[in-house]
Amino acid sequence: QALKAVQINDKIHQVDHWFNISKTIQSLVSRKLHLQPDHPVAITRKIIESVFPEPTFQYHNNFDPVVSTYQNFDSLNIRPNHPSRGPSDTYYLNKYTLLRTHTSAHQADLFRAGVSGYLISADVYRRDEIDRSHYPVFHQTEGARVWDRTKLPPGKSLEDVVREDLEKLPVHNMQVEDPNPPFHAGNPRQSKYHTENEVEVVAAHLKRSLELMVNEIFSKVKAAAAAAAATKTSTKNQPQAEPLRVRWVEAYFPFTSPSWELEVFYQGKWLEVLGCGVIKQSLHINADRPHQIGWAFGIGLERIAMLLFQIPDIRLFWSQDERFLSQFRGVEAAMDKKLRLFVPFSKHPGCSKDVSFWVKKEESAADGDGRVANKGKVDWHPNDLMAAVRDVAKDSVEDVTLVDDFTHPKTGRRSMCYRINYRSLERTLTNAETNRLHQSVIRELVKRLGIEPRL
Ligand code: PHE
Repeated sequence: QALKAVQINDKIHQVDHWFNISKTIQSLVSRKLHLQPDHPVAITRKIIESVFPEPTFQYHNNFDPVVSTYQNFDSLNIRPNHPSRGPSDTYYLNKYTLLRTHTSAHQADLFRAGVSGYLISADVYRRDEIDRSHYPVFHQTEGARVWDRTKLPPGKSLEDVVREDLEKLPVHNMQVEDPNPPFHAGNPRQSKYHTENEVEVVAAHLKRSLELMVNEIFSKVKAAAAAAAATKTSTKNQPQAEPLRVRWVEAYFPFTSPSWELEVFYQGKWLEVLGCGVIKQSLHINADRPHQIGWAFGIGLERIAMLLFQIPDIRLFWSQDERFLSQFRGVEAAMDKKLRLFVPFSKHPGCSKDVSFWVKKEESAADGDGRVANKGKVDWHPNDLMAAVRDVAKDSVEDVTLVDDFTHPKTGRRSMCYRINYRSLERTLTNAETNRLHQSVIRELVKRLGIEPRL
């Protein structure tokens, strides 16, 4: 390979045989949807920022997506053999440099700077399957609140200070179910560093803060939906605004303990909205701030924006089509008012085509994750197929599903069939066009993955 260096934003990076970032993905790095005025992702970021005011929280919206493996994984205590580190899950420039897979990659740097709190919003990159709610680039907002034991006012304990901050937070009328799920053995209090009372009050501050955030978001979600329903049925009586139901569920992250997920009851289902927890003390210690204690959370912006505006397909966020963008103009300036829901432009007909093939010969049986044991240098991972489909069909592919997977009992060869659903958001694809697209996809799969198409 002739490729030696690649430019991402304004920097040139040396690449090596780890490099796996397609041109399609490279072209999305400069888009920064969270900073585009009146873009639904940016509007969602601003709603979140409104709950965490400056100067206690600093906003960071321009961190470079290229980070080190140390920032993205090691600094966060993510173990060396964790699957998320593999090149089938993560986009690498070279062995030590990658496109961040989460905003947590910047935690340690900000803890080192000694901030009292922050919100980081940014584009993050993950190799993944293809469907209406997954895209290899999406956006997250990450927040943290930190207190320093060496900077307490005279006569006050850390616990006093956090409690005073907690008492300054507004109260809400939400219905919080399971406010205190029991901690699992693998997700304990960090009793070596924090007293039980300290953890209690930090956790209470975290929970109230994040409850207020989801309350702000979901009151907008519900108000917009109710307003849209009212105009449709032309009834004057708006449905009673019921208090929001949320629940705390125990979770696990390598960089927080205890950890939780916050779920919201919406349209008859519990939706998982964010992950959070009490920051592991090793992060503060490694950042030369051993006297800090704090909490952190991370939330995906597209999922929230899809709810806020009823946007049905994640590809729409990347659309430069005026029929999409024009619907949000002026929303930022009037955010205190009800949001207007997205009105989908006519759904163009889709067309699904199957590709059946033998997986390249040399490899053997699959393990539980659908990964195939690495024999020689051949390794089957569905994300490689997804990437090839995306690189050829771009945003004209709506979803890709596995419809058949069997291993021939005698020869041990593996045969698979994937169904690719082609549908453009912007226009009707002709039959001939779809066929050409599908043939190009198959050629690319042969070239990249060595598959042997079955007829
Ligand atoms: N980084 C986590 C994710 O992407 C979310 C998270 C952030 C969890 C901060 C805890 C604290 O899933």
